[in-house]
Amino acid sequence: MERILKINSLTKHFGRIHAVNNLELEVFKGQVFGILGPNGSGKTTTLGMILDVVAPTSGTFRWFDDGCTVEARKKIGSILETPCFYPYLTAVQNLRITAHIKQCGTQNIDAVLKQVGLYDRRNDRFKTYSLGMKQRLSIGAALLSDPPVLILDEPTNGLDPEGIAEVRELIRKIAGEGKTIIMASHLLDEVQKVCTHFCVLRKGFKLHEGSVSDTLGEINKVEVSSEDMAKLEAVIQDFKGMVSYQSNGSAIELILKDDVNAIAVNNYCFENGITLKKLLTHTNTLEKEFLKILREND
Ligand SMILES: Nc1ncnc2c1ncn2[C@@H]1O[C@H](COP(=O)(O)OP(=O)(O)OP(=O)(O)O)[C@@H](O)[C@H]1O
Ligand SMILES: [Mg+2]
Repeated sequence: MERILKINSLTKHFGRIHAVNNLELEVFKGQVFGILGPNGSGKTTTLGMILDVVAPTSGTFRWFDDGCTVEARKKIGSILETPCFYPYLTAVQNLRITAHIKQCGTQNIDAVLKQVGLYDRRNDRFKTYSLGMKQRLSIGAALLSDPPVLILDEPTNGLDPEGIAEVRELIRKIAGEGKTIIMASHLLDEVQKVCTHFCVLRKGFKLHEGSVSDTLGEINKVEVSSEDMAKLEAVIQDFKGMVSYQSNGSAIELILKDDVNAIAVNNYCFENGITLKKLLTHTNTLEKEFLKILREND
């Protein structure tokens, strides 16, 4: 696996405020890496440091495992600093200006507009765009130089549900084209829906790091028991809605298929002459922990 970014003991103090403390991270090619944490946990500061906008107090980071930061910087698109679009100019005109500022040529403008779903509206003025469209144009601006890495800070902040869905879909699409994406978010749900890997920050400290499917993947699990466990086990074996089951003698734990729920289990057992004594649904405990962490600083 090709390493894109390595962060070593990165630290940023603003006077008494310890925004980021000894952060260690690695991001690999093709990952959509989420930095998840409540307000003030150090997400933007971290992105600022790896984009050379914020000077670290101590620690280092390395892009693409080569020392040359100027070359590396050209391979990174970001919307940390939201680009300034002119309200009276069209998307095409605005992107021409962005291309000029970035010195990256205008040849990708049409492709980028298609990519972010604004090609049909390309000749409309920026001020007539919805918030979601404006955000998609920002992402388009970051993609103009076709960078292999994209950095996004709270890409769905301030958008309505439709705008949120559009932007998330766009991020997944861009990731599907092989780009590496690093994004900050305070929403567990967003990280779960969009990211492949993530870390959790709290008060500048990393609390957890891992793949989303390993730690947050929705495990659809129920636990059942009845007076006659032998009969229950015999009946459960033929239940089509499960992936696997495990019995410990006093209860049976079922991993259900995605579209199957506890009600279906209950109905199935009842139809087969079993009245359940216990029917417990499980939510991932890690997920509960994260929600607690995220709520604490709300
Ligand atoms: N320029 C600055 N001067 C002083 N303190 C700062 C500065 N920038 C950030 N901080 C402080 O550093 C801490 C981390 O801030 P940061 O913006 O990185 O958090 P965040 O996780 O991005 O939060 P949010 O979810 O609200 O965007 C906060 O306590 C913040 O007040
Ligand atoms: Mg922030």
